[in-house]
Amino acid sequence: MLRIESVHKVFNKNTPDEFIALKSLNLSVSEGEFVTVIGGNGAGKSTVFNIISGSILCDSGVVELDGTDITYMPVYKRASYVGRIFQDPMKGTAPSLTVGENLIIAYMKSMKKNNLSIPSSKEKNYIKERLADLKLGLEDRLNTKIGLLSGGQRQAVALVMATLVKPKLLLLDEHTAALDPVSAEAVMELTEKIVTENNITTLMITHNITSALDYGSRTIMMDLGEIIIDVCGEERKKLTVQELVSQYK
Ligand SMILES: Nc1ncnc2c1ncn2[C@@H]1O[C@H](COP(=O)(O)OP(=O)(O)O)[C@@H](O)[C@H]1O
Ligand SMILES: [Mg+2]
Repeated sequence: MLRIESVHKVFNKNTPDEFIALKSLNLSVSEGEFVTVIGGNGAGKSTVFNIISGSILCDSGVVELDGTDITYMPVYKRASYVGRIFQDPMKGTAPSLTVGENLIIAYMKSMKKNNLSIPSSKEKNYIKERLADLKLGLEDRLNTKIGLLSGGQRQAVALVMATLVKPKLLLLDEHTAALDPVSAEAVMELTEKIVTENNITTLMITHNITSALDYGSRTIMMDLGEIIIDVCGEERKKLTVQELVSQYK
């Protein structure tokens, strides 16, 4: 589903601040794989996500999504294929719009429909059902401004927004890091449920090593713009949090 080949990224080239963020990175992810991504601050994790979603361009290399070369495809064209959730629950939703309005805009964007077109009652019902699936009672709060929800509720709505139409790839960038432990656990459980039920190819950055091993089917660790660990299957099952922590640089 995703193929990253020899992707190189240097920030502030030819200045004293020159920094190699990604070193000829290679990564292939199969359809339905749920990959957890760990690594120290500045390892290049978010840069990989930025390059996949198009918010920054790489200096060289190729990014392919479902067989299409998207290396230089504009952000707006990728938006209907790539779902992304950030650490900050304020990012990615419009706080002054209601829960319902945010969901409808996300749906129309994924369907590549004009945001101003009025959704049919069938579409509205589908959106409401997806919200009800969360079992948080949010289907009764469609007219609440989303900025009034708690961080955990907003991330739950963001998950629904990103997956109303199945994305080819879901990118989660420490999406539970700003939440209290109980909400973080609840959002992780929801993530697992939505990703596995819909077989969504997912990359999830987390600072929680226990989550990195408990969730998903494969774990990669990045350091200084390179992938230094890539494990799945039995090898991953045997890996302990302690062993992974000892690899942090
Ligand atoms: N837009 C940018 N301009 C300059 N430097 C950047 C930019 N984005 C990231 N960096 C630098 O690249 C390195 C990798 O950043 P990032 O991918 O955000 O790391 P991580 O998500 O693993 O913590 C860091 O040293 C960061 O300061
Ligand atoms: Mg980051």
